[in-house]
Amino acid sequence: MPTLSALKKSDLTRHVGTEIHGLDLLSLSDAGVGELLELLARRGVVVVRDQAMSIPEQIAFGARLGELHVHPAYAQSEHPEALHIYGDENSKMVPGEGWHSDVSCDERPPGVSMLRIETTPSVGGDTAFSHQGALLRSLSGTMQSFLRTLKARHSGDLPWRNAYKSVDPKMYPRNLHPVVRTHPITGEDALYVNSGFTDRIWDMEDWESDALLRMLFDRIAFGVEFQCRVRWEPNTVTFWDNRVVQHHACWDYFPEKREGWRVTTVGEKPYLAN
Ligand code: SIN
Repeated sequence: MPTLSALKKSDLTRHVGTEIHGLDLLSLSDAGVGELLELLARRGVVVVRDQAMSIPEQIAFGARLGELHVHPAYAQSEHPEALHIYGDENSKMVPGEGWHSDVSCDERPPGVSMLRIETTPSVGGDTAFSHQGALLRSLSGTMQSFLRTLKARHSGDLPWRNAYKSVDPKMYPRNLHPVVRTHPITGEDALYVNSGFTDRIWDMEDWESDALLRMLFDRIAFGVEFQCRVRWEPNTVTFWDNRVVQHHACWDYFPEKREGWRVTTVGEKPYLAN
């Protein structure tokens, strides 16, 4: 059973994303899983091609990465730990469009996400990622110090109230998290607000909160130097670490079909170490 260290790897961009070549995930050793988690913590995104597997096999592999997450708003009954990612000619929306860190409204939001896309459109359907540690370090020392004093509210209302009107709003989690959080493996600090879930900076006037969030959301969206894009092929698996990256699924392929499954681990309650 191989470990990762012997395999060829290529970085997607300077700050974020690494592709591993020649890996069969389903035969990865426990030591290899540990190396994968460590690589993810450092690089934010890891891409592996040609990983045909069933949904139960994907769930079983995900369970080796940590405790599995069940989505609070739209768990599928047959495989509650596998989130169906789907878009076609009838879609009015697709999951993950817009910059976000997965389900950051949870008290213990997702740690690692593992997405396997089975069916790709003829072109398009990329996923963009932004590294929040590199982005944080690009801000002035004064701004970084200020952000480290703040908490923000993350709310499921923002993405789900309009999209899933049938779901009882009481199910939408709302939680306060530090605006800068520390990664438990690397100790790296990263910005942790996103336009998908973060609706206000706590203990601020509305207009102050709106202005600060707008500035940070613009930096996330337009800071292309902190980003990479993953171009999918059938059975590409991409892992990301939601503590250090956020992502944006590009819905540029309507009316074509794109389909896959996401398995996600529960992370720790976000904290700022010092
Ligand atoms: C998601 O946010 O998990 C969806 C990402 C994608 O479809 O590329």
